[in-house]
Amino acid sequence: MITTKKRGGLANVVAGDSNICLCGATDESLLIRGYSIEDLAQSATFEEVVFLLLAGRLPKRGELFEGSYEVDELFLKVPQNASPMDFLRTAVSLAGTLWADEPNPALRLITSLPTILLSWMKQKKLPLKRGSIAKNFLELLHEKEATAKQIRALDISLILYSEHEFNASTFVVRTIASTMSDYYSAICGGIGALAGPLHGGANERAYDLIHQFKSADEAEKKILEMLSQKIRIMGFGHRVYTTKDPRSDIIKNIAQSLASAASDSYLFEVANRIEEVMWHEKMLFPNLDFYSALVYHWLDIPKSLFTPLFVLSRLSGWSAHFIEQQSNNKLIRPLSNYTGPKHQPWIPLEER
Ligand code: COA
Repeated sequence: MITTKKRGGLANVVAGDSNICLCGATDESLLIRGYSIEDLAQSATFEEVVFLLLAGRLPKRGELFEGSYEVDELFLKVPQNASPMDFLRTAVSLAGTLWADEPNPALRLITSLPTILLSWMKQKKLPLKRGSIAKNFLELLHEKEATAKQIRALDISLILYSEHEFNASTFVVRTIASTMSDYYSAICGGIGALAGPLHGGANERAYDLIHQFKSADEAEKKILEMLSQKIRIMGFGHRVYTTKDPRSDIIKNIAQSLASAASDSYLFEVANRIEEVMWHEKMLFPNLDFYSALVYHWLDIPKSLFTPLFVLSRLSGWSAHFIEQQSNNKLIRPLSNYTGPKHQPWIPLEER
């Protein structure tokens, strides 16, 4: 019998078969449909990875999606005081009512949600352009041309965030899929799970952490204090990896290359020192969220869009899992280890 005491949070529990992603706990590697994350980050575009995730193979020439949709006016009506994460959850739910006849909801959502989000933020219907999602996102956000370096930085970040096995939000998506519920409901659940600070919300908090320090020495002093007070350092640690997150080196290199052109490049030294201290003190390593925070900062992306960008990328992995779950479905319904009282005598209301 597996007790929650030994294995809280389903740690080390294999919860199902999947041929989408191998999060290699023993050699700290990551494979998506058999391709290493290093190769994908080096050579693929995010659109190719989306195709790979949805179709299970690399696209051939001319197979990438080139369609276009119009942004529905109704998306702009979501209250402006909502957070971008709340907007995304609401927008996906709304899409489920507007696109009832859409034959490929995953592709439509992945290709149009970035523009829908920015249209809502700017309160004007933006053009849904073809081609690179990273390029369109940056250019619609900043209303100016992005450089090839900026576009590739965001493109690689989207690749790194696209898929990561049975993480919390993906497991939510699969659980909802397993009831044979609809795609939009599953994605809404995934967004809700991802929003939390222990999951996708960590990148925004990592930014707050790094940004509060004026120098690497100050960071070292404060991090040591925080650790002595048992404060959790956001952007560090991982449930599956034990010595490193293979995605972190890739995003760290990008952060370093963007730092050289930034006026606040000392933030890279701050982050690097936090990494050294965390390893020295706790043998904890940065996860993808830590240096992503700096990359997004140097791409002039507002902090409130850090976690939404994770969603816009992870939609691809969630969609692959939704399809896989429903194509060979078994209802996900585990057992709990009951720790409450038994055989309670019933006490009538007037006697309580
Ligand atoms: N900062 C400080 N200590 C940390 C830590 C962190 N980021 N992550 C884990 N630890 C410590 C815990 O305090 C705990 O110490 P203890 O045994 O002395 O109490 C130990 O490491 C185990 O932590 P636990 O939370 O039980 O491990 P987990 O597998 O459940 O946690 C995470 C995984 C990701 C939730 C956790 O590392 C974390 O909260 N990280 C920060 C949030 C984050 O970056 N999330 C994005 C994940 S990709």
